[in-house]
Amino acid sequence: MQKALRINRILSLAGLTSRRKADEWIKKGRITVNGLLVTKLGTRAIWGKDRIQLDGKDIPKTRQGLYLLLNKPFGYICSLMDPEGRSLVTDLLKDIPERVYPVGRLDFDTLGLLFLTNDGDLTYRLTHPSYEVPRTYKVTVDGKITDKALKDLRAGVQLEDGPSGRSKATIISKNNMKSIIRLTITQGRQRQVRRMLQAVNYKVVHLIRTGFGPLSLGDLKVGEYRYLETVEVEPLKKIVGLIPK
Ligand code: URA
Repeated sequence: MQKALRINRILSLAGLTSRRKADEWIKKGRITVNGLLVTKLGTRAIWGKDRIQLDGKDIPKTRQGLYLLLNKPFGYICSLMDPEGRSLVTDLLKDIPERVYPVGRLDFDTLGLLFLTNDGDLTYRLTHPSYEVPRTYKVTVDGKITDKALKDLRAGVQLEDGPSGRSKATIISKNNMKSIIRLTITQGRQRQVRRMLQAVNYKVVHLIRTGFGPLSLGDLKVGEYRYLETVEVEPLKKIVGLIPK
């Protein structure tokens, strides 16, 4: 479900003004929502669904680029259609003014950070292997992970479609039953984390992506999503050279 956002935030996300300026507009009685004058700062609305007007004119239902962060739940797939009729991540998005596409894929049974956008250039670069965008996962495996396995993961393991590349691997917790590690890789091949763990003889029982480039999941609840602010999108564009560093 999309959350209602404060009007000042919507006006800033729409690229119309800063949040502070938007509050001034509200105080001056320039904003209406669904025909009603907004008098209280902090009033919320759903961008793309509620009719928000400035001086009687509709504000854009979108900005040029739409950038969303979703906490993907278990049991959803990251395609735009599924012949088996399974739920799609895009089914979770409500009242988004334009179609957005998942950047990279998470498996049906993987949870966590999924970035979606309608910005084709950015998608292309973020998913292109040459940019080596780091992806961080919290990985739970059966059994107690050994130092040797961690060392092998860090050095990179051989997968059937080529070497995995080096990774960063640290232990979050471990006992005889299960281990939880944080793993950062710079490629996004199919089922890569599961296959890397399999290569060192561990079975992944739970997988959450917590980071993608400069983005992190934060406290976004499973199934929820939010618009990214310009200050969050710029670092993403910077790491792939779309804007200067
Ligand atoms: N690696 C995997 O094995 N699965 C995912 O969903 C993402 C990375």
